[in-house]
Amino acid sequence: MKSIESLPLVYPTRWPTEPSLTDECVDFVGNGSLQVLPIMLRGDHAFGAEVRGVDWSHPVPEEVVQQSADSHKLVALQDEYAVLIFRSTGLDDTRHIAFTQQLGSQLEVNPFYAGKHNDRVGIDELWDVSNIELDGSLVKPNSRRWHHSLGNALWHTDSSYHQQRSKYSLLLSHGNPKRGGFYTHFADTRRAYADLPAERQQQLAETIVEHDLWHSRALGSPTIYKSPTVEERAKKPPAYHQLVQRAPNGRDTMYLAAHAKRIVGLDPEPASKRDSATKSAGDGEDITASQALIWELIEHCTQPEYVFSMEWLDGGDMVWWDNRQCMHRANPYTTDMSARDVRRSTVVDDGPNAWGVRTP
Ligand code: OGA
Ligand code: MN
Repeated sequence: MKSIESLPLVYPTRWPTEPSLTDECVDFVGNGSLQVLPIMLRGDHAFGAEVRGVDWSHPVPEEVVQQSADSHKLVALQDEYAVLIFRSTGLDDTRHIAFTQQLGSQLEVNPFYAGKHNDRVGIDELWDVSNIELDGSLVKPNSRRWHHSLGNALWHTDSSYHQQRSKYSLLLSHGNPKRGGFYTHFADTRRAYADLPAERQQQLAETIVEHDLWHSRALGSPTIYKSPTVEERAKKPPAYHQLVQRAPNGRDTMYLAAHAKRIVGLDPEPASKRDSATKSAGDGEDITASQALIWELIEHCTQPEYVFSMEWLDGGDMVWWDNRQCMHRANPYTTDMSARDVRRSTVVDDGPNAWGVRTP
């Protein structure tokens, strides 16, 4: 794994581009009411798009959202592009949640590990992903929250460690952030898979990956999360997923994340033979071979040719991504950062791979 400090603060493909796009690049879809500006196009592979023309001042009509093969619909655009960006939506928490509810029957509920009263937003369906403390000050270097945020700076997919994983994340910016320097990065795991040699694809076909929250916490911040307790581990046991899966765009993809701890059957002592209740991360398990393969694949997927950096411009900007067909990461906090108030809602996956696979 590359160290967090060595990861780029911005990748060569940026959104918006400089100078800003001309209208020729705009791919109008539907009846002209929605405009789609693709971010990365190669042949018939598309990844990321800015969508204009949604009227956010009212609830979004069902016929605009609708899950159907009709390319006029937002869900069909999401299936194709994996990451959709909307600028200056003007949404507040309530309407952010209401729109998210149109995208799936169940939203993830925040467990508020540090207590709901200690959460600046304090709404069950939202995660405070900002760099702001309860009293409005910026997160202090080396505080627990600072360390926690380091996990977001690693390439990941949200919630792959839940027994029932999540499909969509919708991150909305509030207030009037200072411009300049805030990016979220996205990697196209579908195109990265398609570019692997056929022989490699075959070798990986049956691979099962163990995803463990405690693993990525320890990777992001070894000082604080070195050894989760037996109780913590029991609260959040690992989940198991096929590495290669059919993505919502109909092609194969790799389901990977910093939460990926182990390739089932690859290391000297298979997961199924361990007494996991008595083990904690880093206490002598040998996962060297698994980690080497996992990070080789993550590094393959996150080469600049598969990645773009979305810049946060104004309050109301929102990005909606599909965790099943891309990875993402934040930039780590810095001592000279300004406030960024971003809040995330998350839709639970109800598709065929939602619960992953049983361990052999
Ligand atoms: C998230 C996340 C990235 C960012 O909210 O899940 O990873 O830039 N956010 O804040
Ligand atoms: Mn995330």
